[in-house]
Amino acid sequence: MNNIKDIATQEKFTGNQFFTIAVIPGDGIGPEVTQQAVLVLDAIAQKFGHHFDYTYCLMGADAIDKTGTPLPEETISVCSKSDAILFGAIGHPKYDNDPSAKVRPEQGLLMLRQRLQLFANIRPIATYPSLHHLSPLKGKQLIDVDFIIYRELTGGIYFGEKKSDDAQTWASDECIYTKEQVERIAHLAFKAARQRKKKLTLVDKSNVMETSKLWRKVVKDMALQYPDVELNFLYVDNAAMQIILNPKQFDIILTENLFGDIISDVASIISGSLGLLPSSSIGISNALFEPIHGSYPKAAGKDIANPLGSILSVAMMLEHLKLFKEAKLVRDAVEWTIQNLFVTKDIDPVNFYFTSTVGELITEYIHGRVTGVFNQENVELRKSTII
Ligand code: IPM
Ligand code: MN
Repeated sequence: MNNIKDIATQEKFTGNQFFTIAVIPGDGIGPEVTQQAVLVLDAIAQKFGHHFDYTYCLMGADAIDKTGTPLPEETISVCSKSDAILFGAIGHPKYDNDPSAKVRPEQGLLMLRQRLQLFANIRPIATYPSLHHLSPLKGKQLIDVDFIIYRELTGGIYFGEKKSDDAQTWASDECIYTKEQVERIAHLAFKAARQRKKKLTLVDKSNVMETSKLWRKVVKDMALQYPDVELNFLYVDNAAMQIILNPKQFDIILTENLFGDIISDVASIISGSLGLLPSSSIGISNALFEPIHGSYPKAAGKDIANPLGSILSVAMMLEHLKLFKEAKLVRDAVEWTIQNLFVTKDIDPVNFYFTSTVGELITEYIHGRVTGVFNQENVELRKSTII
């Protein structure tokens, strides 16, 4: 029997490519959106003659229920050997209501980020003209909004020493950054700016925090290597305000872990639906792709969650694997569904399509089976057989 490497070599010769993908469906709506994303990958594989080999793994509440731990060693091992990781969502209300719970689902994700050193979390914020009405921002603020947040993901207060006394009268969280940690993500952010509008904004709190002063110094020094990129600075409180007041001023935002967590949620409301936004978390030798939405337990199992965040994460994955034509086709397919309002309940609460239908429409588009002529009767029935 051929081993995986042999197959990979053979397929390279025929121009096709072979990739190993670790799939972590996770909690809540994670499994159902991930299922659609995998179907999209399958369609891409079929169309372009590639092969994606999936290994399913446990993480989060699902893993606690089945194994007692939010991140089994097996998951780390599969993920560390894979070309890419596709992740759904994490979290379950039974843990949220119990602050004394010893293990929490989120620990799984934090541990995976740290074990694989997934240090750069990349969150693009784009808007779609046909969805401007969903945004709490006014139409004119939304035109030309297109920026990316680079959030550091393996350092800072998330991973510093945590202490409290037994009587719970005090607690502390340490925040540490090293120059190397700042540099490795800053290089990615500078390079990304170079490919875009050449503007980098460092978000920090250097009027108060030592770690922020370090970030500012390191990034300022690095700017000499990127003279074509305009570097500017914003305090995080002001940045949160500017993202809402005038989002089109941004190109690449670079920031540390906690600030990035907060401002990326602020930024996510711009597009009108959290369900639309993808992300990647890039490490030294691994990369993970996930929608930025949470596990949305109330919608779980109802086939109403928006699969586009996960499907656009697949587009980011394909770009990471240097499959640019393939990624572009996925993006075109997503845009086609949005333009035609083949959208889920979060986007159109009255005339909505199911998660699985939106996924199916996207795969049909990828296969080129969309004619552009719709059967109105079926459109009204919300059936995918419109094409
Ligand atoms: C995110 C999430 C996580 C974080 C949670 C689930 C630990 O909010 O990916 O932004 O805070 O980083
Ligand atoms: Mn978050």
